[in-house]
Order: sequence, then C-alpha cells, then structure tokens
Amino acid sequence: MLLEQLRTARDGRFPFLPDTVIWNSDKCAELWTQLALRPEYYQTWEEIALLEKNGTEIAKHIRPGSVLIDLGPGDTRKVTPLLNHIEKLGIPVTYYAADISRPLIERGLRNLVPRYKNTKIKLLGLWGTFDDVLNWVPRVSSPKFIMSLGSSLLNNRWNDALAELQQWKSVMQPHDLMLVGIDSEMDHDKIRKSYHPENDSLAELIRAGFSCSNRILECDWYRDENWELTWRLDKEPLMSGFALIAKHEVCTQVGLQFATGDRIECYESIKYTPNEVREQFQLTGLNVKSTWNTPGGGMYEYLVSL
Ligand SMILES: C[S@@+](CC[C@H](N)C(=O)[O-])C[C@H]1O[C@@H](n2cnc3c(N)ncnc32)[C@H](O)[C@@H]1O
Repeated sequence: MLLEQLRTARDGRFPFLPDTVIWNSDKCAELWTQLALRPEYYQTWEEIALLEKNGTEIAKHIRPGSVLIDLGPGDTRKVTPLLNHIEKLGIPVTYYAADISRPLIERGLRNLVPRYKNTKIKLLGLWGTFDDVLNWVPRVSSPKFIMSLGSSLLNNRWNDALAELQQWKSVMQPHDLMLVGIDSEMDHDKIRKSYHPENDSLAELIRAGFSCSNRILECDWYRDENWELTWRLDKEPLMSGFALIAKHEVCTQVGLQFATGDRIECYESIKYTPNEVREQFQLTGLNVKSTWNTPGGGMYEYLVSL
C-alpha cells in the first residue's frame, strides 16, 4: 500500500507520503511537540486561548457520564483548558487520548493523570489510527463527545474531507456531539512563519518521516542526500505543503524509481474559510449548534450534532 502511494500520483497530482507514516515515527512526535511550542505556531496558542475563554460554555453541552474521544491529542496541551472547565463544573466524564503515536499518548497521560487524580475525570489512552477509533466508537454506549482539535479532521482535500465527516457522522448517535477545531487563518505571512520553512526542525521532522518509510518498506530507498525539501503555499485551497524533489535519478530495490526533478508531496495543512467549513457540515448533514473563534485570529471551534 505505502509502496503504491509513493509510486502513484494522488488525484492526478504527485505521489504523497501519508501523514500516518510521519506520526508513526517516535522521532517525529518528539520533534512536533517542540515545534508546536514555538511562539509563531499560532495554531497552539490561539486554540488554547479560545478553549480557556469559552471552555465553560462548551463544557455545559457535555452530558454527565460522557465519553470524550480526543482524536490526535498531540501532547494534550490543548485539551487541558477544556478539562479544567469540565472539572470546575463537576461533570463526570471518561477521557480517551486516541492517537497513532504511543509516545504522545504516554506523554499526554503523564501530564494529565496527576492533574485530574482526585476529580470526576477518568483518563485513558486509545492507541491506534482514526480508522481503528471509527470501528471502536459504535461499541461505546455512553453519550460521546468527539473532539478534533487543531484541524485533526478536515485537513484533507474537499471530497476527502466530506467523506471523512460522513464516516464520523455514521458512528454518531442523536445525543452525541463533535467539537471540531479548524484553522481558518488567511494571513499568508502568519501561516508561513508558523511552518517556518527555513527552520531546520521541521525539515528534520519531515525527513524523519521519510526515513520511517524505509523501516516500513524494509528498504533504504530514501536517503537525505538524494532529495531537496521545498515548501509552498497553495491558494486554492489555501494550503501549506512540503515536497521532496529528487536531485538526480533514484533507483531502489523495491521498484521505486525517480527521475531528476520528480516530486513526492507530504505534510499538508489546509485552511478552509468559515463559509467553506459550514458548507462541509451542511453537505454532510451535520448540524452546527455553536461556533467560537479567537478575536482577530483564525482558529475556530464548531460544536456539531446529527
Ligand atoms: C498536528 S498534531 C495535532 C495535535 C493536537 N490535536 C493539536 O491540535 O495540538 C496531529 C495529532 O494527530 C495524530 N494523528 C494524525 N493522524 C492520525 C491518524 N490517522 N490516526 C491516529 N492519530 C493520528 C498525531 O499522532 C498527532 O498527535
């Protein structure tokens, strides 16, 4: 499957390294945690501020006994303000940190467990892909509060984003809710600075992701010295993306072959406008109950139900 993805153009464009390969790498998870702490990475700070400010209002929608499913919590820094509001309101919940990265779950729970030890918040990890979570959700009979912070969902091309939403909708019950965080920042300079293409750490993260594919394919097809890393900001849709360009011909034992200038895309971050996001919910038949955003910023939170 991965071999095919690296060999074949995606949507008539270029081959694409799936994000799951990057997030499967312990080194990438560690590097991302450091990168997301940089002051220019507005995605972290603005969404935390949003959840601090509006957390009580959001938490009031959560039914006692709910199961909170945090899709890709990263290091769980973002969800903490919301958990604080839930704790203040005394709502009993079970929180699941659902992530493909075991080190991120472990690190996150190490942060959260002492903090919520004597509260009504139970904390658990769910190690697997989002597809695994989709298969698990129908077995949960309690009301569910599914969280996708930091554009974990909808960070996909239009039709794929709709298909993804449709899948989550199909596992929701009438009393379930989904909190969807979206980055709708439109300031190109601010976006560029947040991905900091000149920053060696992000380059290191992406290259570590490609090295991880060597392990999966059991072949050292990828070597840093053969590939140049480039960054771009596409306009339709507005999207930050990286790509590797072959510096010369690359031949491998697993049948991957590249000519000079061939390109493999990766690590895309799409910024849909609030109107586009509303259209996506409407087209999927999800009902937007409330929206919050950062004053003067581009981070939005949507609370949706069936
Ligand atoms: C960009 S980070 C976002 C973290 C956090 N939600 C935030 O906004 O700060 C993406 C997170 O989702 C996880 N992730 C990405 N794709 C995944 C997948 N297909 N299945 C499970 N976890 C995934 C990553 O391991 C990581 O923790």
